[in-house]
Amino acid sequence: MVQKRAYISETSSYLPDTVMTNSQLEKVVETTDEWIVSRTGIKERRIAHKEEATSDLGVKAAHKLLEKAQLDISQVDLIIVATLSPDYIFPSTACIIQKKLKAKCPAFDVVAACSGMMFALATAKGYITSGLYKNIMVIAAEKVSSILDYTDRSTCVLFGDGACAALVTDKPLSDHAVWMDEIVLGSDGEMHQALEVPSGGSVEPLSKEALEEKRHCLRMDGRVVFRHAVKRMISSISECLKKGNIEIDEIDYFIPHQANNRIIEAILKRFMIDPQKVHRNVEYIGNVCAASVGICLDEYLEHRSKSDQNILMAAFGAGFTWGTMILKGEGR
Ligand code: COA
Repeated sequence: MVQKRAYISETSSYLPDTVMTNSQLEKVVETTDEWIVSRTGIKERRIAHKEEATSDLGVKAAHKLLEKAQLDISQVDLIIVATLSPDYIFPSTACIIQKKLKAKCPAFDVVAACSGMMFALATAKGYITSGLYKNIMVIAAEKVSSILDYTDRSTCVLFGDGACAALVTDKPLSDHAVWMDEIVLGSDGEMHQALEVPSGGSVEPLSKEALEEKRHCLRMDGRVVFRHAVKRMISSISECLKKGNIEIDEIDYFIPHQANNRIIEAILKRFMIDPQKVHRNVEYIGNVCAASVGICLDEYLEHRSKSDQNILMAAFGAGFTWGTMILKGEGR
């Protein structure tokens, strides 16, 4: 039996226009542009307006997507949203976005931190190939700045705000559509405390003390996360290539999660990937968590050469979670 394909027919992204440079951060915490650039590759990041919620960023990406795809919102069968900085603990950010888009379809969130877009796309693929839905809007949106502690220099310099959207369909709706081939997802909850927001959930409800200690903000053991990010992405890329029966040399373009240039370099070194074939935007937007790989994909698809037939995306995030996916050009 021929397996049905799930296409990414269109993509979009949205970045808030406020830029926060490293030199601006030098005035907020004890850091330097030199330290941030040499340890991470980040020069600046975008910060959402105070009154702009995560759902607003997602809605902006969604409007762009509908316009590019020339699709009416009534034609969307399902909305899936990936985020680690939701509008509320509940209801889901997807429901808020559904309301703001005046959509009538079902909508739900996927929580897989920086791997969220990979998990959401894989979920969409499952629905499409099962035949349940035809047009799925996958959104990843992050107002990470709303959960950052701007007195913690080891985290606040790394992240930025932004959103992306992808239209996943049962047929290619554009001539630049790509389809999702092999996918490898993984999780390991053993290390969940290495990157977390400790307070505000059922384990530690928000309290005056928690607020004073900024335990409602993101906390990270950077060295542990770094080590696992490299290890897990390398193993999931290897597994995905094996599943797809494809060699690394046959990958025409590589889209890694943009957390830190040094993580990307370690992966390139391991697989001897040509740096020219690798997408990077961490320098200008920092780590936009769940939206990171989707923003890269949107930037890439704008200029994708038709000869690029095999594209590999890989992400890693809190949980820990990770995911690798091979995207293919039409006709293969
Ligand atoms: N400016 C200046 N100094 C800083 C700093 C900053 N913004 N942040 C940390 N430092 C200091 C530390 O306090 C430490 O000082 P000490 O040696 O006196 O204790 C020193 O720099 C080295 O810290 P270390 O944590 O070893 O640095 P590092 O080279 O590991 O880089 C990260 C730190 C956070 C950039 C790095 O660990 C990382 O990228 N981790 C993964 C992050 C990530 O990917 N997160 C999201 C996953 S999706």
